Amino acid sequence: MEIERVQLQAHGDHGGMLIALEQERNVPFEIRRVYYIFATKSDVHRGRHAHRHLHQLAVAVRGSVTFLLDDGTGPVEIVLNDPSQGLMLGRMVWRELYDFSDDCVLMVLADQLYDPADYITDYAAFISEVTGAMYPEDMAACQGR
Ligand code: TYD
Repeated sequence: MEIERVQLQAHGDHGGMLIALEQERNVPFEIRRVYYIFATKSDVHRGRHAHRHLHQLAVAVRGSVTFLLDDGTGPVEIVLNDPSQGLMLGRMVWRELYDFSDDCVLMVLADQLYDPADYITDYAAFISEVTGAMYPEDMAACQGR
């Protein structure tokens, strides 16, 4: 499944909480990179891209953020506002992130090192790749043949 919400097991510990993320246990891929996004202004939209190969697990360890996700079948909105909720994103999912709370810290685990070549940053190109459809101008060219 390319988009999946996952419930992470929280352990009560000395009057507080702890969540462990472990490769092949509750993270279904090799963890090759961890990054986190913070201090994002509330009017900023981030993302607006898809990845050809990357798998990621996102957790709002503090605060909240809204994801707009599209795997080619139409957009869905998912709010992350709980450190015990994870969001699995597989390959070829268009994502846009917005409505960051001031205190939001979004941690992301990934199965690949950072690679700009893995990004698709043009939505029409993404839709074309994910559906195998042609661009309108290609369609017109075909019809003109
Ligand atoms: P970007 O992927 O554009 O973030 P967003 O889509 O959330 O706005 O990355 C922002 C900047 O950080 C860009 O200069 C690339 C750099 N970056 C890294 O160096 N390593 C990483 O793992 C990531 C995700 C980004």
